[in-house]
Amino acid sequence: MAPTGNFTEAQAAAVKTVTDRFIVTTERLQKIAEQFVLEMEKGLDHQGATVAMIPSFVSGRCTGEEKGNFMALDLGGTNLRVCQVNLLGGGEHTIRQQKYVVSEELKVGPMRNLCDFIADCVDSFLTENGTGGNETLQLGYTFSFPILQTAINRGVLKQWTKGFNCSGAVGKDVTILLQDSFRRKNINVNIAAIVNDTVGTLMAYAYKHPNTTMGVIMGTGFNASYYEDMGKVKKWTGDKNQEMVINMECGAFDCERRVLPMTIYDNKLDRESINVYQQYYEKTVAGMYLGEITRNALLDLVDQQILFDGHSSRELNRNWSFETAYMSTIEVDETSDLSDTGHILESVLNVASTTLADRQIVKEICQAVGLRAARLASCHIAGVMKHTGKVGEECIVAIDGSLFEFYPNFEKNMGQALSEILGEQARSKVKFDLARDGSGLGAAIIAMIASKN
Ligand code: GLC
Repeated sequence: MAPTGNFTEAQAAAVKTVTDRFIVTTERLQKIAEQFVLEMEKGLDHQGATVAMIPSFVSGRCTGEEKGNFMALDLGGTNLRVCQVNLLGGGEHTIRQQKYVVSEELKVGPMRNLCDFIADCVDSFLTENGTGGNETLQLGYTFSFPILQTAINRGVLKQWTKGFNCSGAVGKDVTILLQDSFRRKNINVNIAAIVNDTVGTLMAYAYKHPNTTMGVIMGTGFNASYYEDMGKVKKWTGDKNQEMVINMECGAFDCERRVLPMTIYDNKLDRESINVYQQYYEKTVAGMYLGEITRNALLDLVDQQILFDGHSSRELNRNWSFETAYMSTIEVDETSDLSDTGHILESVLNVASTTLADRQIVKEICQAVGLRAARLASCHIAGVMKHTGKVGEECIVAIDGSLFEFYPNFEKNMGQALSEILGEQARSKVKFDLARDGSGLGAAIIAMIASKN
């Protein structure tokens, strides 16, 4: 990606130094995938490993014939979603859903307040949709954080991720906390299952495509799940004669910093995050972080007087002000004067004035950060395929999340990186499918399976 056009020599050299830091070579991709396999094995072997490899208690495959009316909740992305799902069989379903904004205050306040808020949302959903009656409703609770499950409806929060940091939750069973709020407010709902969003996505896609291999989230956060043969899971003391979905919690991969290529911009982000030294893999891939990495790189160029004539703005100086969505807009900006990019910089971020060269530089930095994210994101898929001995076999990866859905060329760049790791032939057998909003449906299916048992 050589700097083009109107750059001065000094600009070209400085921009190249920054973008070079984001290059991930084929050799590095292969090394990351190999390390990933080792870390998966550690997680399956014992408790407390970096990649937690959490058994989800969801065993057996979907047939698509599951039927019935179930509620689902989805907490952990940008919004809280309350859904009512009617499973019709034949792989068909209908869904009614409502989104609610979770305020920044609730995300870091007492857990009791968050649970009461969720209960209020469920209450108003039931009132509006006229679904509250005498019968207890069964609910699948998608709670997209690392929880150590002890049963399909029991899970203790290990730690918070993605900007949540409520007090009084870590080490507690989050289903009991929410069930308490339901009880206090006389809401006749039973939490039948607690579900990670990756597991919900896998099950939702499998409702129509029973041979789905993995469920992946590439949105605000980043994580994946897949089917494991429990006979191979040393730490598992239950029935070994079954397959079960494993929530990998792979965003935590490489917190030892063995293989991920971390730049000074990543380090700055980490230091200023609320979960320092954690979730390194997630912090290089997920939508919550890419804008901030880009902002850090831009400010480096401002400080070198390469960009914006050495002048930042109050907005650009503010942590997290550069949203990942801006990067998407900038990457697809094909106007001759990069006017969409200019609009974001000048009207949204209040940079006093920008030249065409400035806008080109910003675009190149976005491309470098976005390309690195997509390339790194392919490594865990390669890792799962190697571990399960599926390299060269058909493999359907169901993916949900705004990054995968909307970020320009994300899928293409991931595919390219996967072929560099596994070879073109093996890559051609892997299908990335968009599984939009799957976790609501998935949680309902899992609630059904749980309440049947
Ligand atoms: C974070 C959470 C994980 C979730 C992912 C995607 O990595 O720890 O549980 O699946 O985000 O939402």
